[in-house]
Amino acid sequence: MGRRKLAAGNWKMNGAKAALAEIEALEAAFPAPDCDVLICPPATLVSAMAAIGSTVKVGGQDCHANASGAHTGDISAEILADAGATAVLVGHSERRADHGESDADVNAKAEAAWRAGLIAVICVGETESERTEGKALEIVGGQLAGSVPAGATGANSVIAYEPVWAIGTGLVPTLEDIAEMHDFMRAELAKSHPDAAEDFRLLYGGSVKPSNAAEIFAVSNVDGGLVGGASLKAADFGGIIKAASEG
Ligand code: 13P
Repeated sequence: MGRRKLAAGNWKMNGAKAALAEIEALEAAFPAPDCDVLICPPATLVSAMAAIGSTVKVGGQDCHANASGAHTGDISAEILADAGATAVLVGHSERRADHGESDADVNAKAEAAWRAGLIAVICVGETESERTEGKALEIVGGQLAGSVPAGATGANSVIAYEPVWAIGTGLVPTLEDIAEMHDFMRAELAKSHPDAAEDFRLLYGGSVKPSNAAEIFAVSNVDGGLVGGASLKAADFGGIIKAASEG
């Protein structure tokens, strides 16, 4: 069975209430796209965004491993689900770098997402020096082994490959390098998750734009994108949804 493409947006720490107009514009332009669409806004907007329409599914950007408790400033998967989220990013490189999150932390967060009925979008990716030193596959292989729990399936998890050096820089790996990494990830998952490996959607993230989305989404084992800057405006993200629908 073919994997349905996913156009996912990560608004990071951007988006006040006025930005909900972008979601209204996407709903009007794409009543029934041929791909899944997910936007992960700041937690303050999850509830209002989820109420807008049916095309754009809403996700959190992170969750705590626990369901509730004394963890000031954190948010649980259960609270995100209660607000209308259907997914949550875990292990984004900005969380790994800014908050020291380890593979074990990410693994626990993915299981927390499932506990609350959310899809875990598990993020991996090498730094610039790791790629320069020829270690990209080894690093991503290690992150997959540590971050993707044994219970992961194509229904409860999505894997996003985001090379850190391509995030927000305008730099994109060659299509050959993206293919090499995505083929490698599929092969690694076939070893660790033999029954589910073919079902996982593998997203590419890092400077995806309307102008390069179609060629990236056509690469072997690329099942969509995780998009930062170009997900903030409906005009840009619409081009990416179109590319995912046609790919
Ligand atoms: P950009 O698309 O802005 O490079 O960000 C990618 C990203 O980090 C999405 O999670």
